Amino acid sequence: MRKSLEALLAMVPVVAALVVAPNAAATAQAAASTPASTTAATLKDAASISGRLFGAAAAANLLRDAEYVATLNREFNQLTPENEMKWDFIEPNRGLFNYAAADRLVSHAESQGMTVRGHALVWHSQLPAWVQNMNSPGQLLTAVHNHISNVASHFSGRVAYWNVANEAFDDTSRAARRNSVFQRLLGDAWIEEAFRATRAADPTAKLCYSDYFIEGQNPKSDAVYALVKDFKSRGVPIDCVGFQAHLTSGAVPADMRANLQRFADLGVDVHLTELDIAGSGTAQADSYAQVVRSCLAVSRCTVITLSGVTDKFSWRVSQTPLLFDRYYTKKPAYDSVLSVLIGG
Ligand code: XIL
Repeated sequence: MRKSLEALLAMVPVVAALVVAPNAAATAQAAASTPASTTAATLKDAASISGRLFGAAAAANLLRDAEYVATLNREFNQLTPENEMKWDFIEPNRGLFNYAAADRLVSHAESQGMTVRGHALVWHSQLPAWVQNMNSPGQLLTAVHNHISNVASHFSGRVAYWNVANEAFDDTSRAARRNSVFQRLLGDAWIEEAFRATRAADPTAKLCYSDYFIEGQNPKSDAVYALVKDFKSRGVPIDCVGFQAHLTSGAVPADMRANLQRFADLGVDVHLTELDIAGSGTAQADSYAQVVRSCLAVSRCTVITLSGVTDKFSWRVSQTPLLFDRYYTKKPAYDSVLSVLIGG
């Protein structure tokens, strides 16, 4: 999977400086003493050294913001619509589909050679009232099938990965299924229904289950693990697990690598789908490095996607969890991620 050292050095000649001294000052120094044409190391180029994708969630309304788009295009090669494919956005009224904003994002991604992750087909949140208020299992199942067949067919061939079901388990110590209209009316089988329907609508997309707080081994990740194991054993189509990875500096689970590996050993790819880490400075840089190292140690960990491009527009804005600050300046965490991707 890894390219030769020569190819690596040709692509990213600032490697050595970054690996030795992964902090902003040292990077600036290295850049100053290196010809401009050789300082083009980016997250996506660094990730591609080991055949991985490096992505970000992006918002359609920000495609008009030149600074935002320049950073998105330069650094990332996987794009996840942040909200534009969610049920309340894309089918706000029954049977009436609103594809314009998602189409803009997909077209933008294609124009830049970025891979697209669809997010998310069935989720309890950002779900329109007409679905939340249903009380007939038969009608809900029809609505789920209709939603998936329309949306997944619409994007067929243009979406590489679908987050088919999102956040289906709750956060209690029992890690039971979350109380949602899907769970109440359809029971445990709703996830399986959603995966089968997505495969039927788009036979080529890779189908993922995604959730948060499953990065380390705990009752919730155990529950997801059991689900994936069951799907694999019964031939229910599933190709990947998305670990959202909304984390906090200094609190990255120590067993993250081992946990990713046990999922990979079930025969699925593992993706970090909404990575962001609250904090700043060295502590944040170290935690990002730890997470990226965990992924690189698992050959089936093939995609790392951030929850956004810049702290300026982060959904956790007060926690400054991303790699670019609100002025689009690279943070110490940017340098540490780049360094790990290059060296790891
Ligand atoms: C967030 C978006 O970033 C916000 O813009 C929106 O207001 C709320 O949702 N889990 C998910 C993501 O799967 O889609 C959520 O994104 C964050 C939690």
